[in-house]
Amino acid sequence: MSLVFGAALSDAHAADPKSPPTPDYQRARYSALHFKPAISKATDADCLACHAEVLKPSVRETSPAGVRAADAKAWYQRTSTYSGTQDTFHRRHLTSDFAKSVMALSCTTCHEGHDPRDEHPLSSVTAQRDGGFRLRKSVVPETTCLKCHGQMNTAVMGLPGPWRETREMFQNDCLTCHAAIRTTRHQVSYLKPDAIEAAGKGNGDVCYGCHGGRAWYRITYPYPRHAWPGMAEETPDWAKGRPTQSEARFQIGTTAQGQEK
Ligand code: HEC
Ligand code: HEC
Ligand code: HEC
Ligand code: HEC
Ligand code: HEC
Repeated sequence: MSLVFGAALSDAHAADPKSPPTPDYQRARYSALHFKPAISKATDADCLACHAEVLKPSVRETSPAGVRAADAKAWYQRTSTYSGTQDTFHRRHLTSDFAKSVMALSCTTCHEGHDPRDEHPLSSVTAQRDGGFRLRKSVVPETTCLKCHGQMNTAVMGLPGPWRETREMFQNDCLTCHAAIRTTRHQVSYLKPDAIEAAGKGNGDVCYGCHGGRAWYRITYPYPRHAWPGMAEETPDWAKGRPTQSEARFQIGTTAQGQEK
């Protein structure tokens, strides 16, 4: 019903997302841009035409109880890659110096469309059945956040312990191993692969930041396992069933580079 409703309400803006957004709240809420397929083609500017507030600086300098934001930094805000004052979630992923240097996230990397009517799957016959979104969540965490905020899979790396205890053995440099192992990496539209390698050279904090250092989860992300030059023929048991390519919607067409060598 909601999808039909969305289509029925499609107005000039929905038909031509470049036209100025309608001021009508309900029409805006059911903008075709919130749904597939239009959302897959939306640019950040399309979304920001209505949601400009999302990128506005809006962190209080002082909490209502009087704690200054500048004096209340969490552990993950004391890492060597963190710069600037406290900032919002959206700005930390889209506009912070570090985000801009290693990532190229856009609204639709995380937002794949949601149902403004009931916000939970399987609530009716026509509700999305493919698990495209989660209960009251407009973003699917396990295929989005987990990629950069899961645990480091030290078991498959043969590390003798967690990175924070063993990193000294490797001069805090992931490239002691990863200069030759799993070298076909980060070939996705939302990352800047060359910038990541340059920043990560000699500074494991850069790599660790997305691979365990800011782990909001107790689980690891099952990364695709791209073939790399010099890789052993046999697939280890833990890697059986892993995809060998990045998610299709993010591929930038250079994934075959390492495989051709
Ligand atoms: C024509 C104006 C308009 C455009 C364009 C638009 N939105 Fe919205 N969006 C709205 C309105 C209105 C709401 C409802 C806000 C509310 O209820 O607080 C909304 C709600 C949302 C929500 C919150 C959903 C919820 O139920 O909590 C998200 C997330 C969102 N939009 C993302 C996007 C993204 C991503 C794009 C671009 C692909 C986009 N919007 C484009 C007007 C728009
Ligand atoms: C790193 C992933 C990510 C990116 C990139 C992202 N968002 Fe969000 N956004 C989220 C999450 C997570 C929420 C909270 C959703 C929930 O509670 O279901 C959210 C919430 C929102 C909301 C709801 C209102 C609010 O502030 O809580 C809007 C509107 C929104 N995003 C728009 C945008 C727009 C526009 C862009 C691009 C400029 C964007 N988002 C980029 C992950 C992202
Ligand atoms: C492509 C990698 C990537 C994805 C996907 C991603 N993050 Fe992040 N996240 C980062 C990086 C990098 C930082 C550090 C940004 C900085 O230091 O400025 C960060 C920082 C954070 C922070 C700390 C913000 C602060 O105040 O310091 C939170 C919370 C967070 N992410 C939650 C999420 C959630 C929730 C999602 C999923 C909706 C998500 N992230 C998706 C890479 C990612
Ligand atoms: C002692 C060598 C070594 C060090 C040091 C090391 N790794 Fe690994 N890493 C490996 C090996 C071996 C694999 C698995 C290779 C394979 O797929 O067969 C691996 C796999 C990975 C994977 C993919 C995991 C998966 O589940 O597919 C990521 C991501 C990764 N390493 C990141 C890092 C980061 C980030 C660092 C530094 C913080 C690091 N590694 C340090 C040896 C190492
Ligand atoms: C901004 C976040 C970010 C940073 C920084 C980062 N990674 Fe990653 N890494 C990712 C994401 C996201 C993926 C999964 C991409 C995909 O789906 O193909 C990934 C995948 C990998 C993989 C799996 C490769 C494969 O077979 O596809 C390895 C190994 C890896 N990273 C190592 C590293 C190393 C080493 C560094 C530092 C030089 C590093 N990462 C820095 C986010 C990051």
